[in-house]
Amino acid sequence: MNHWVTQLNSNSQVYLSVIEPMIDWLCAEQALQVLDAGCGRGEPALLFASRGCRVTGVDKDATMLESALHLVSQVPFSGEIKLAQGDLAQLADEDDSFDLVWTSAALHHVADKVATVKELSRVLKLGGRLAIREGGLPLQFLPFDIGLTAPGLQDRLHVADNQWFVSMTQATLPEERPYPFGWSQLLRGAGFVNIQARTFLMEALPPFTAAQAEFITYHLWRTYERDRGQYGPLLNEADCLAVQQLLDSSSPHYILARDDLHLRYGLCVYVGEKSSDS
Ligand SMILES: C[S@@+](CC[C@H](N)C(=O)[O-])C[C@H]1O[C@@H](n2cnc3c(N)ncnc32)[C@H](O)[C@@H]1O
Repeated sequence: MNHWVTQLNSNSQVYLSVIEPMIDWLCAEQALQVLDAGCGRGEPALLFASRGCRVTGVDKDATMLESALHLVSQVPFSGEIKLAQGDLAQLADEDDSFDLVWTSAALHHVADKVATVKELSRVLKLGGRLAIREGGLPLQFLPFDIGLTAPGLQDRLHVADNQWFVSMTQATLPEERPYPFGWSQLLRGAGFVNIQARTFLMEALPPFTAAQAEFITYHLWRTYERDRGQYGPLLNEADCLAVQQLLDSSSPHYILARDDLHLRYGLCVYVGEKSSDS
């Protein structure tokens, strides 16, 4: 793992342990011209640039961009990075500028996904690739039966997170144009060809690294907080009590005192090539 990654919070460290092999797979050719659309704190952009790519990162959020600028000023890399504030649904870049457009966990925030993919396609060179990094496998770390509530708590935590996501999206993106299809269809519908999907995985057994342990407790805590927040309640009483015990470091049921956890985390990427029909 790169030294700078070990300085990031636990969530970013575990996330990047999955994203890094994905970027290696996408960047087999050297010195690609890459657009990172919705670049956030600039971590994936930095991974592309450390593989010799020339990266333009665009994000609409000034605070995220500030963090990205700070990160890239701290770490040496071989390629180039330009960062700019902008909307990925309306880019300032010329047509046919990039070999690869990467958009990770950003497209689900956009109201009109079909129009946005057309815009991302516009700035791609013919034969260039659009990589949509969205979705994955449900995060898992608990055994099926933990002896505290009905078996299957992990699945119910996942359902609660999905319920929260739907309510949050309805509230924060009321103008969203429904797109009731999969990500591969978004590429196919926009005329992309040679469409591929790949899931990248990490898994671990105890003893966990400090980052993996924090990642597990953070995700459990986050569902608990969501349950108590404005889009809750999401969990039944017995599950809520079980989660409280799992999070309590003074309880005999504290999650990190268990030796039988199995952390499994998977992220998907959908890739298509721009054709003359795109
Ligand atoms: C969950 S973060 C992901 C950040 C980064 N791509 C990553 O994978 O680490 C989503 C990012 O998308 C940005 N974003 C959302 N909608 C956007 C838009 N219309 N134009 C540009 N950026 C956008 C947000 O500001 C945020 O930084």
